Amino acid sequence: MKGIILAGGSGTRMRPMTKATNKHFLPVYDKPMIYYPLATLMLAHIRDILIICNPCDLDDFKQMLGDGSQWGIKISYTTQQKANGIAEAFIIGEEFIGDDKVALILGDNIFFGHGFSESLKKAAQNDDATVFGFYVRDPSAFGVAKLDKTNSCILDLVEKPTEYVSHYAIPGLYFYGPEVVEIAKSLKPSPRGELEITDLNKLYLKDRTLNFIELRRGFAWFDGGSPDAMLDASNYVSMVDKRQGLRIGCPEEVAFRYGWISDEEFLKLADELSTSGYGQYLKEVAGIVAEERQRKV
Ligand code: TTP
Repeated sequence: MKGIILAGGSGTRMRPMTKATNKHFLPVYDKPMIYYPLATLMLAHIRDILIICNPCDLDDFKQMLGDGSQWGIKISYTTQQKANGIAEAFIIGEEFIGDDKVALILGDNIFFGHGFSESLKKAAQNDDATVFGFYVRDPSAFGVAKLDKTNSCILDLVEKPTEYVSHYAIPGLYFYGPEVVEIAKSLKPSPRGELEITDLNKLYLKDRTLNFIELRRGFAWFDGGSPDAMLDASNYVSMVDKRQGLRIGCPEEVAFRYGWISDEEFLKLADELSTSGYGQYLKEVAGIVAEERQRKV
């Protein structure tokens, strides 16, 4: 399975912060925003990842994330000329996707919660497409799902509804088969000039299967597109760290726990960051994992 992170866009809601910096480099507590979607794809056991960004940010992304080998993954890069819509990611990524299944995550989406790895595993195993649903107080800014009585099946999807549809927003994480490229190519731009992911998902709903997984109560999903959302996400990540001593969204930790990098490689990464709390946390993780291994013996 391949993974795409869509990290272009204009970040207008974050101005003036995004005047000279791309939104995805801004901090969410202790790390750049882009680390979170990257760690999510890694959590789904995806090791071949394409980052799609604005042409002017390409060098900075390469500088920040490299080729991924430090984390036992492969990261490649390409660009989106302008924000032509989320579904354009599949047309841009056609060659990269090839005959594989693909997961797409938006560069400003942050996920955390019990059972998430299992949900990702299920989504990766499903045929056709899978989207998630998350109950929000105000769904008007999102793509929203109308669900059946058991909340297990999508009946309809509405982008940014002006009338009540449901409280279930569709977060920016989607799983598809390789046919998604041709389906994306068949889309026409919406009145706002974008190839809409909701239109693409509606085609799956009409002609194929659109599986639905609910991210239940207690799960956290943040769309870090506004200063308030970013502050909420930062506070949440910080709170989990302070209460549980667990940091969310560390690619090094996922790589180490999944055995994609050796103990020595992991400790070297921790050493390089040792003056920061992030680096100290990685050292703690080495200790925790050693203890876990000991208990298994
Ligand atoms: P949005 O929040 O819809 O757009 P934006 O990031 O440009 O911000 P703003 O609304 O403040 O101007 O984008 C959600 C995510 O998807 C974000 O990570 C950027 C990414 N994106 C693209 O990379 N290309 C696109 O064409 C679109 C629509 C979004």
